[in-house]
Amino acid sequence: MTTNIDIRSNRSQIFVFIMHVFVLTLCLAMVFIGFGHQVIRSEVDSANQELREIRSPDILFVPTPQEVVDKMLELAEVTKDDLIYDLGCGDGRIVVTAAKKYGCRGVGYDIDPERVIESMENVKENNVQKLVRIEQKDIFTLDLRDASVISLYLLSSLNVKLIPQLEKLKPGTLIVSHDFDMQGIVTTDKTIKVPSDDNPTHTVYLWITPLKKNDMGN
Ligand SMILES: C[S@@+](CC[C@H](N)C(=O)[O-])C[C@H]1O[C@@H](n2cnc3c(N)ncnc32)[C@H](O)[C@@H]1O
Repeated sequence: MTTNIDIRSNRSQIFVFIMHVFVLTLCLAMVFIGFGHQVIRSEVDSANQELREIRSPDILFVPTPQEVVDKMLELAEVTKDDLIYDLGCGDGRIVVTAAKKYGCRGVGYDIDPERVIESMENVKENNVQKLVRIEQKDIFTLDLRDASVISLYLLSSLNVKLIPQLEKLKPGTLIVSHDFDMQGIVTTDKTIKVPSDDNPTHTVYLWITPLKKNDMGN
């Protein structure tokens, strides 16, 4: 005859068993995730043994908050037919987001080998290798003419230094810049403010080629 005590003890055994299975599954999942990251890092590292310091970056890495990235891509009206270049791509978040959200192609350029490796890992982790490429380059040496969208988070002085390259872009190319304008060039009236957790107002500037010079650009 089954007593109340037996039923209770059976239930607690089942509970203990389920807890063991749960903890074991959790441990296995953590091991696999850690292993996955390790595999990605070693693949990326071996693919990039050639990476070395070209020269110091003109500005250090500060990531654009994700909500600002989203607004930059919206302002640039990115579609799947675009090719976006992020000049100084940091951890690759702008080109990765563009590929994931809009299915467009992108190239992230950074001079810092650490950033290039980080971006490549980001591309792999988000499985957008078919759409996104990362290259270690000094942005001031690039031919930008294939791009239909350019994203920037540099400094105003660096944006100005890019003008000779930006002037060669195809007509109708959109340029978005987080927080920094481009002295001497007229912005469109689509400049927006984006609040984020870290800062109440990020500004995003938009230009469309051909660039129009203002009085300070003459
Ligand atoms: C402020 S971070 C912006 C990162 C990313 N675009 C974002 O918005 O999250 C600027 C990046 O530009 C890179 N950088 C600085 N000078 C560069 C140069 N001359 N050529 C290529 N990348 C450069 C830095 O290594 C850094 O990752």
